[in-house]
Amino acid sequence: MTACRSPVLSVVVPCYREQPNVAPMVAALDAALAGIDWEVIFVDDDSPDGTADAARALARTDTRVRCLRRVGRRGLSSAVIEGALSSSAPFVAVIDGDLQHDETILPAMLDAVRAGADIAVGSRHVGGGDAAGLASPLRQRLSAAGIGLARKLAGVAISDPMSGFFLLRQSLFEDLAHRLNGQGFKILLDLLLSAPAPLKVAELPYRFRPRAAGESKLDILVMVQFAGQFVDRALGGMVPLRFIAFALVGLFGIFVNLAAMQASRAAGLGFGPAQTLGTIVAMVANFELNNRLTYRTMKLRGVRYWQGLVLFMLVCGLGAIANIGIAGALYHRGDANGLAASAAGSAIGVVWNYAVSATLVWR
Ligand code: GDD
Ligand code: MN
Repeated sequence: MTACRSPVLSVVVPCYREQPNVAPMVAALDAALAGIDWEVIFVDDDSPDGTADAARALARTDTRVRCLRRVGRRGLSSAVIEGALSSSAPFVAVIDGDLQHDETILPAMLDAVRAGADIAVGSRHVGGGDAAGLASPLRQRLSAAGIGLARKLAGVAISDPMSGFFLLRQSLFEDLAHRLNGQGFKILLDLLLSAPAPLKVAELPYRFRPRAAGESKLDILVMVQFAGQFVDRALGGMVPLRFIAFALVGLFGIFVNLAAMQASRAAGLGFGPAQTLGTIVAMVANFELNNRLTYRTMKLRGVRYWQGLVLFMLVCGLGAIANIGIAGALYHRGDANGLAASAAGSAIGVVWNYAVSATLVWR
């Protein structure tokens, strides 16, 4: 029988399109973690550049390397959650796969948690650390605004709550896992907001490096989603984030509808055809936006995109009929004035559209 052992520290590395950074990452961890029994878990979301292959190639000769490959899903937070939950080690660390975080402070982070902190966070903003690697002034500004908001909500005095570089006991992660929102980018913030009592945070400064290779995946959609996460928390998680996004897209669709209708009337179309055209344009726009934003982690492509579009238009068409029907009925029964009746109709319409498209279109 061979002796089985689990390492003391699992280092979870979320990666998407990081193929050239995989081997340097392992080498960096090897140098930084001398004397610690560690493993690294690369969590790859089916990157087209062969990130998972690079990790597996190393894993064949180095038992400290593991690869978790997810198919059909995308998302930094959920990748981190699944990596951390796949660990049997007493401690887990999370670090970016592009060598922007300074792995040499991992031993000090481990010491901090062993000494009693709930979580050790690598911070770019405490004395000694800096944000040199943050690309543009715009990003630095957005980052500052987000930090202020995050601190207020988490009730923790932490200088870098948006950090993606931290270490905690695996059991604590396990305890908080059920409460995590799991969407978007900000897994640390999610952990801090999910803890029933404020966590004891130890911050360790480091210098944020420029990206080693490849490009950042933090785009404008990720930021919109981040804002949505706050709305979600403010509502106490009662209303699903997806529903909020869906409803906002729907609201935007009303303007698209009106604009397209105006344009086609101006082009000489009659009221009926203009209204039909406006509705179709709005539906297509809503489908596209929902596919890119609301359901960006399960985006439909190829044939499934077109099938989804047809189904979405059918669902929303029925929703519109229900909407008009309900508004009309309420109005005629005299239970509501015109505005209230159409508001009720629209509310029921959007719930219908959401419920049915969530189960049929993006499932
Ligand atoms: N599995 C998986 N799936 N990994 C992902 C995904 C995804 O959908 N999106 C990004 N990653 C990985 C990247 O490959 C990288 O290793 C890490 O997550 C961070 O992504 P970057 O695209 O490099 O993010 P950044 O440099 O712009 O963001 C940095 O600043 C943020 C704070 O503003 C990082 O340090 C983040 O961790 C940090 O939250
Ligand atoms: Mn990065």
